Amino acid sequence: MAKIKTTFYCQNCGSQYSKWQGQCTACKEWNTIAEEVLQTPEKSDWKSPASASVKRAAKPLLINEIDASQDARIDVVDLEFNRVLGGGLVPGSLTLLGGEPGIGKSTLLLQMALRLPYKTLYVSGEESQKQIKMRAERINPVASNCYILTETKTQNIFKQIEDLQPDVVVVDSIQTLHSDYIESSAGSISQIKECTTELIKFAKETATPVILVGHITKDGHIAGPKILEHMVDTVLQFEGDRNHVFRILRANKNRFGSTNELGIYEMQGAGLREVSNPSEILISRKDDELSGNAVAATLEGMRPLMIEVQALVSTAVYGTPQRSATGFNAKRLNMLLAVLEKRAGFRLGAKDVFLNITGGITVDDPAIDLAVVAAILSSNEDEALPKDYCFAAEVGLSGEIRPVQRVEQRILEAEKLGFSTIFVSKYNKISLKKTAIKIQLLSKIEDLVGFIV
Ligand code: TYD
Ligand code: MG
Repeated sequence: MAKIKTTFYCQNCGSQYSKWQGQCTACKEWNTIAEEVLQTPEKSDWKSPASASVKRAAKPLLINEIDASQDARIDVVDLEFNRVLGGGLVPGSLTLLGGEPGIGKSTLLLQMALRLPYKTLYVSGEESQKQIKMRAERINPVASNCYILTETKTQNIFKQIEDLQPDVVVVDSIQTLHSDYIESSAGSISQIKECTTELIKFAKETATPVILVGHITKDGHIAGPKILEHMVDTVLQFEGDRNHVFRILRANKNRFGSTNELGIYEMQGAGLREVSNPSEILISRKDDELSGNAVAATLEGMRPLMIEVQALVSTAVYGTPQRSATGFNAKRLNMLLAVLEKRAGFRLGAKDVFLNITGGITVDDPAIDLAVVAAILSSNEDEALPKDYCFAAEVGLSGEIRPVQRVEQRILEAEKLGFSTIFVSKYNKISLKKTAIKIQLLSKIEDLVGFIV
């Protein structure tokens, strides 16, 4: 019997070592190096070796002669998903979808597989065919060109693929797959690498798009080697607070489109519903005006999004005032409070300040600053802001109101949603002619105080 070959992999970054060591030289993590059995009897291929040998060798082509027209994208019958992909699935592409357990990765892909008018193979190593059928019944399928396979061995999967000839393949999840060419257990670095390599070969040679589900680690990265993300064409992240109904799909890497786009879904009893106008849900339009609420015109990716900011300012009960922010950077909140104290003379040093972005969304668009300041001032004075006011500007350290990018898009969105006034920086260049919404220009924080207090 041949000697079993083993090698050592860092479970964090995927670096390979010939012997064990305590610390990974590449990523400097301790105790992450583990031994994995390695065996490559013959060159791994997704097809049987015989048919692989007839594969023709690639030749260099002039760029102008390359026909890109066959790259017509596959419409996934889901506006949000299509947009994040950059206009649909590209034939022969490998897409990796990561996200926390229970966030809805399997639901999103099964829903897509059920809707697609093409022959789709949904391979699951996590659930039984019965379980998937039960889920599909809840989602309420429209069409049924969808085949379900519960299998984890790549060689068997490829055999079924050769028989079935599907147009789209979904694999849930890459961590459950194992290949015969490698002896280590499913989910190990070498298995993930090998299975992905086989799937890439299959996708490129047959121009079939493949979507993989990837588990993520505690700290939010996709489990497995970092090179997994380098190998695939597109890396999507499905995120959202599990206790909230909203889910956000964004692209972290996309070889066929922008990574600025994002898709918003709502998890319902019957699957994920596309949210085409998120602003309407994110703003709780109450009848009476409440102090401490302000609406920010932000941009998430390329899309304008109106978000409600809530602040509560109250006298501190304990010696040290508390500051807490949900969905907003706490350091930035402290900075804005210092600016209000120094530049506008509000004594907030002895007050507790709580800030909340509604909808469970985390915002890092600096244009939300002005709405945060307005909400704090409104709560501090216990004066409600008119509910048809909204804000879009960054606040600088010296209390200046700074311009933000693509302000016109924000103004138009606010106008569309029926806001009467939008507060923006005086230094923003606005070439909009006639707007139904009043554009209020501010240059420093004191100007805002004049409007609110
Ligand atoms: P799932 O797709 O299994 O998550 P993942 O594959 O990312 O681990 O999603 C499971 C969650 O979604 C589960 O907590 C229940 C919820 N859900 C609904 O609310 N409605 C539905 O129609 C479905 C199918 C799931
Ligand atoms: Mg799942």
